Amino acid sequence: MTSFDSLWAVLEPIGRNAGTGGYRRFAWTGEDATLREWFAGEAASRGMEFVVDRAGNQWAWLGDPDVDGPGVAIGSHLDSVPDGGAFDGPLGIASAFAALDALRDSASSGFRLSRPLGIVNFGDEEGARFGVACAGSRLLTGALDADRARSLTDVDGTTMAEAMAASGHAVEDVGRDEQALHRIGTFVELHIEQGRGLVELGRAVGVGAAIWPHGRWRLDIAGEANHAGTTRITDRRDAMLALAHVVIAARASAERHGAVTTCGKVMLQPNGVNAIPSHARAWLDARAASPEIVRAVLAEIGAAAALHGGTVVEESWTDRTAFAPELCARLSTLLRDAPVLETAAGHDAGILAAAGIPSAMLFVRNPTGVSHSPSEHAERDDCVRGVAALATVIEDLAG
Ligand code: GLV
Ligand code: MN
Ligand code: MN
Repeated sequence: MTSFDSLWAVLEPIGRNAGTGGYRRFAWTGEDATLREWFAGEAASRGMEFVVDRAGNQWAWLGDPDVDGPGVAIGSHLDSVPDGGAFDGPLGIASAFAALDALRDSASSGFRLSRPLGIVNFGDEEGARFGVACAGSRLLTGALDADRARSLTDVDGTTMAEAMAASGHAVEDVGRDEQALHRIGTFVELHIEQGRGLVELGRAVGVGAAIWPHGRWRLDIAGEANHAGTTRITDRRDAMLALAHVVIAARASAERHGAVTTCGKVMLQPNGVNAIPSHARAWLDARAASPEIVRAVLAEIGAAAALHGGTVVEESWTDRTAFAPELCARLSTLLRDAPVLETAAGHDAGILAAAGIPSAMLFVRNPTGVSHSPSEHAERDDCVRGVAALATVIEDLAG
């Protein structure tokens, strides 16, 4: 049993729903608190300096930035989408602690850190509760305005400020954190691959090259509540039917442009079986290889919504992000010419890269490519290979 196995065994049951087998680890909830406690405990047991930044991200550091300068940071996130998989996020953090353990175990071979090493747990990466993805890293870098973040609400109307305060975080301090940023010289996030690129290439570990531009939009369409039986078909103003037209238009537009669109979250009023929907609110996720393509798709969706009296409002946008090419090339060479892949998934590493921090990603093979699902999976041997790859990277960048 490696240190990865024992770290993983403790994480596995936290936030897993017995009915679906999926994870429900949402920002600033009881499950999140348990995960944060776990992270703090792992930091303490390794004698690392534990810091929570102004954005609520947790850091475990070895080394003194005043003496050794900015360090190498590794890590990922512990939160999940609704009924997400076990690996998206936690794999990067468990692998980070395990890689450090592996390097320390091999200390007899002379390994010593020449730069500080940090492990991070970015808060609220999925944005499942408050709607903005990578909220922790965006707040840290200032890409997300602190007042806007504080006022974001969940489905129950609880604001992010209230949720943070209830978890004991200093809400008035939330915002860009210069001190935390100055400690990060380079960031490397290990993550399960969310596709089948590595399976097709027959490799266990790859290097992330770039992230597709992507965003989230809120769609609102009004209808008129009325009786499901007595209202003539021609007299109806059905908000759900209008939404269905817009969703089909979004799919058709995505196919025409080579983009992907998803409508994965819907709220209906009054939400009764025998009442015609008076209001439909839905969230649309759209991604493509270039921002121009996403914008073209959104223009068509906006036109389709307008036909039904609907409105489309942007809630978040992430431009195309390329990771530092020299760093990617260096990691690829280091890992026996590991393949270099683009992804359509968003990551905290992309937010840091956009803020000017040299960043890169390592991907671990996902046999089915399925992610954001209880059936997301990586083979244990590939996880162990990921840990070894991360240890090699640390040795190169900070050893
Ligand atoms: C994050 O996982 C995203 O790309 O939505
Ligand atoms: Mn995810
Ligand atoms: Mn993730």
